[in-house]
Amino acid sequence: MAILVTGGAGYIGSHSVLTLQKAGYEVIVLDNLVYGHQDLVEKVLKVKLIVGSTGDRALLREIFANHQIDAVMHFAAYAYVGESVTQPAKYYQNNVVGTLTLLEAMLEADINKFVFSSTCATYGVPDAVPITEDQSQNPINPYGATKLMVERILQDFNQAYDFRSVCLRYFNAAGADPEGNLGEDHNPETHLIPLVLQTALGHRESVSIFGTDYDTPDGSCIRDYIHVLDIAQAHILALKYLIDNGATDVFNLGNGSGFSVKEVIATARKITGKEIKAELSDRRPGDPPTLVGSGAKAKKILGWQPAFFNLDDIISHAWQWHQKRHQ
Ligand SMILES: NC(=O)c1ccc[n+]([C@@H]2O[C@H](COP(=O)([O-])OP(=O)(O)OC[C@H]3O[C@@H](n4cnc5c(N)ncnc54)[C@H](O)[C@@H]3O)[C@@H](O)[C@H]2O)c1
Repeated sequence: MAILVTGGAGYIGSHSVLTLQKAGYEVIVLDNLVYGHQDLVEKVLKVKLIVGSTGDRALLREIFANHQIDAVMHFAAYAYVGESVTQPAKYYQNNVVGTLTLLEAMLEADINKFVFSSTCATYGVPDAVPITEDQSQNPINPYGATKLMVERILQDFNQAYDFRSVCLRYFNAAGADPEGNLGEDHNPETHLIPLVLQTALGHRESVSIFGTDYDTPDGSCIRDYIHVLDIAQAHILALKYLIDNGATDVFNLGNGSGFSVKEVIATARKITGKEIKAELSDRRPGDPPTLVGSGAKAKKILGWQPAFFNLDDIISHAWQWHQKRHQ
């Protein structure tokens, strides 16, 4: 079985390539390297990297003509919420038009299995927590809207064509390959755990806690952190589900419980043994107090069993990687 992994030079994509390789799949990566890391694909994972965009129809035709691809895992997207607000055209172009171009090329090439990186950002401010898949989806930023649009396109493709997909709505991806060869390396970085660890390494003065007066036990926001290898594992299960003729569906990847910003910082201080200065700041607009997702449906239908749901594991794996990559 050969899988095309778009965005495979990025954080979650590269860990998924590793997991696919370990499970015996052949992998080809398509990444435009706008945010990806060529060295991780070519030197660490040692898989074929095609440098190019999902929006390049001619390149996709060439890839599908020259390689026997059985399914596509689609991680490629821009994912900076703040930038999506100031530059929505960039996000609709890449995340929606780029994905549609990829889907059309798949139709032309008779490839009909697709696993899509969706997000809890499609829910917007949740009606209730833990969030289940049947809750209303009202994204509050263009990034979330682009992902929801792709989900709708995939439903319509399922109706109109012999095309099946799984949308995985991740909560906060975190952690790293415990062997220390891959990890989170966004530039710019906006995610809490790497920011905290960069502070521990002395690359940042301090980390900000946005809002300390939320209706949560310690006043800071609570988020559901999913280990990146558990996300990767869910992709393999979704792929097997589609291969076994599973119907088009959507699944949350959440642990059903979360950790506050203050808990993350306290755990990182314990694991790193560093002070990690924290600054108390005002709330950010659009940040719900608690975002926690129920993974019950993925567990029941896909057989997903997260292996690393405790925060100590998540942060220590990330810390090993940060020390190796950024010291
Ligand atoms: N990180 C999270 O917590 C999180 C949560 C929910 C959903 N997601 C989604 O998961 C996916 C992966 O996220 P990530 O954190 O690994 O991001 P990332 O930026 O590390 O990886 C994305 C990769 O896609 C590549 N890319 C972007 N547009 C492309 C295009 N048009 N053609 C080819 N390559 C392209 C980038 O160069 C990058 O290597 C994204 O779709 C993101 O929206 C991430």
